Amino acid sequence: MMHTDGYVLDLCYLVSSVTFIAGLRMMSSPKTARNGNLIAAAGMLLAVAATLLLSGDHASSEVLKLAIIIAGITLGGVAGWIVARSVKMTAMPQLVSLFNGMGGGCAAIIGLLEFGHKGGDAAARSVVAAGMIIGGVSFAGSVIAFLKLSGAIKRPFRMPGYNIVNGAVLAGVLVAAGLAVVAATSAPAYIALAVAALYGVLFVLPIGGADMPVVISLLNSFTGLAVAFSGLGYNNQAMLTGGVLVGAAGTFLTIIMCKAMNRSLVNVVFGAFGSPVAAAAAGTSIKGSVKDISVSDAAVLLNYASKVIIVPGYGLAVAQAQHAVHELETALAAKGVNVSYAIHPVAGRMPGHMNVLLAEANVDYDKLLDMESANPQFATTDVALVVGANDVVNPAARNTASSPIYGMPILDVESARNIIIVKRSMNTGYAGIENELFYNAKASMLFGDAKQVLAGLIAELKKI
Ligand code: TAP
Repeated sequence: MMHTDGYVLDLCYLVSSVTFIAGLRMMSSPKTARNGNLIAAAGMLLAVAATLLLSGDHASSEVLKLAIIIAGITLGGVAGWIVARSVKMTAMPQLVSLFNGMGGGCAAIIGLLEFGHKGGDAAARSVVAAGMIIGGVSFAGSVIAFLKLSGAIKRPFRMPGYNIVNGAVLAGVLVAAGLAVVAATSAPAYIALAVAALYGVLFVLPIGGADMPVVISLLNSFTGLAVAFSGLGYNNQAMLTGGVLVGAAGTFLTIIMCKAMNRSLVNVVFGAFGSPVAAAAAGTSIKGSVKDISVSDAAVLLNYASKVIIVPGYGLAVAQAQHAVHELETALAAKGVNVSYAIHPVAGRMPGHMNVLLAEANVDYDKLLDMESANPQFATTDVALVVGANDVVNPAARNTASSPIYGMPILDVESARNIIIVKRSMNTGYAGIENELFYNAKASMLFGDAKQVLAGLIAELKKI
């Protein structure tokens, strides 16, 4: 590599790093998120192109390697593009998990290959080993998370002494990584990677349904960390910055989600929250009766309300009812009703799920209230309209100490004067527990598919 190439390469990495930081910053608001994503992607393209064109010795043997790399990037890029275009919003969490696993896997493979270039430099080998084993854990864990979220693995797997077995495997990972650092051959590195992958599988297998978002976010921070170590080991500043940003963002998101569910990370990783076992143990003995309401009566109630708060949940996403709910909001606003949306931090199946869904339907961002701002508002609300949400409005989180969601902050819909709950049946939500809200004297069930019910409400409102 010529000197000038080195300077240009560093400059490209600097520009890429700035785009990553600016892009991430822009992702904090739905208004700028799309552009933020594009800017960061352009920075990534620059970093990859600069690495390919400006590093290496430009020998003729490099041309073949370059062609192979470009073919790989094209193949992966096209496959990623097709999958991302065709995926349904409800299948996003598993896709995110899979993409995250790919990042971890890449970091692990880079680590494995880099061992051969580090000679006897123990410090450099330690950095490479760290990237490799964290990447290996992240890859294998993300694949299991993908299988769980897509329904291929249906039940959390737990056995007595599981945490001890996991602890022993983790110790095995550290010992194998240590051997890989000091060894003269590459065999211990392969063993360390295999044990790390085993740990990734065992780490995610027992974690229950409702904790999966936290785990994905945690694995995401692992991938970031692995890539950052690879960047250090590989002496690639863009990789280092990108990895640090992903690692830090994933860690913050993990903390935010743990807070939103009022759980410690240790409890998430070593507990069994959200598993069918825990849910079943909580049991149910809800007494009382459930009342239902017709679409026309619900439309009348909404029509004469002065303030309505809509609570969207996973069912709204499944029904693809985001446009219908926006239409209902517009119809009510035209009749002078003050309408807003209350968004629980873990509503849906991935962080920000509801915000993205509603932004897609052009719902005004100012109408979205986070849990802290929404909760005091319910007491002055005429109708809380719960659309396809269940766990995030389940009072068991406050009232039932034995419930697996006990302690999780919930949206305080019970304080509203009237509660209308749109869902298809009395079925449970993701955490698998019954909801005493449905038996509340102020609550009425409006049974049906969210999209069809909302369309019915809009049609009835037009008649009033
Ligand atoms: P859930 O508790 O999962 O409840 C969704 C409800 O929607 C179900 O009870 C279902 O009842 C109803 N539904 C499904 N399809 C419908 C349709 N087509 N039309 C109308 N209703 C439909 O959802 P939530 O309240 O949003 O809570 C989220 C849960 O998922 C939490 O436990 C959370 O921890 C977990 N989770 C969250 C995330 C993140 S980060 N957001 C990720 C993974 C898991 P019916 O079958 O009776 O219709």
